[in-house]
Amino acid sequence: METDYGPLALLIGRWEGSKGLDVAPEPDGEEHNPYRETIEFCPIGEVGNAQRQTLVALHYRQRVSRLSDGKVFHDETGYWMWDAERETVMQSLTIPRGVSLLAGGHVRRMREGMRLQVAAGGLEWGIAQSPFMRDHARTCSFEHWIEVCDDRLSYAESTIIEIYGRRFVHTDRNELIRAGS
Ligand code: HEM
Repeated sequence: METDYGPLALLIGRWEGSKGLDVAPEPDGEEHNPYRETIEFCPIGEVGNAQRQTLVALHYRQRVSRLSDGKVFHDETGYWMWDAERETVMQSLTIPRGVSLLAGGHVRRMREGMRLQVAAGGLEWGIAQSPFMRDHARTCSFEHWIEVCDDRLSYAESTIIEIYGRRFVHTDRNELIRAGS
């Protein structure tokens, strides 16, 4: 029987967008980076846990480059997972700064698509980071919503970082269109 990816089925494939905007910390303020990106979601099948939980999962890879010079300045990978019985969606992500996290949340289905909303940083959904990042650029929380309607995907994420002696709200958002299945 074919795997049922539930709400995640709408994500499968390759997406592209060039309307991204990143707001990132600087010692004396913030930088604004317009960007383009590709995100690819690949189905990887079912995963059973403790003989009592069945997840379906997609692996994703996101590559983001500055519009100004075309250079990749954010590279991210991880999994989206769906637990149908508990109606819980999870995103694990890793970025090559020495930061990984597991965010959890829920899905809202709409007539033309769906919205996934996940967060990390509380007691249940954790953030792991290197001792250097913990001490100098600590990720305190992460929130992400992602909406898919037909062949359009939009997202917004907000990461709170303690850096340069203050709390900074690092944000990213973009709109992408389906570029392949
Ligand atoms: C499209 C997504 C993202 C883009 C384009 C992006 C881009 C950036 C940029 C340009 C900086 C400043 C780097 C510097 O000044 O050297 C930065 C810093 C940082 N980002 Fe992101 N970021 C993204 C997502 C994330 C996510 C999801 C996390 C973690 C959950 C994260 C964690 C951090 C941390 C901890 C820093 C502080 C390091 C520093 O400024 O030296 N970022 N990011």
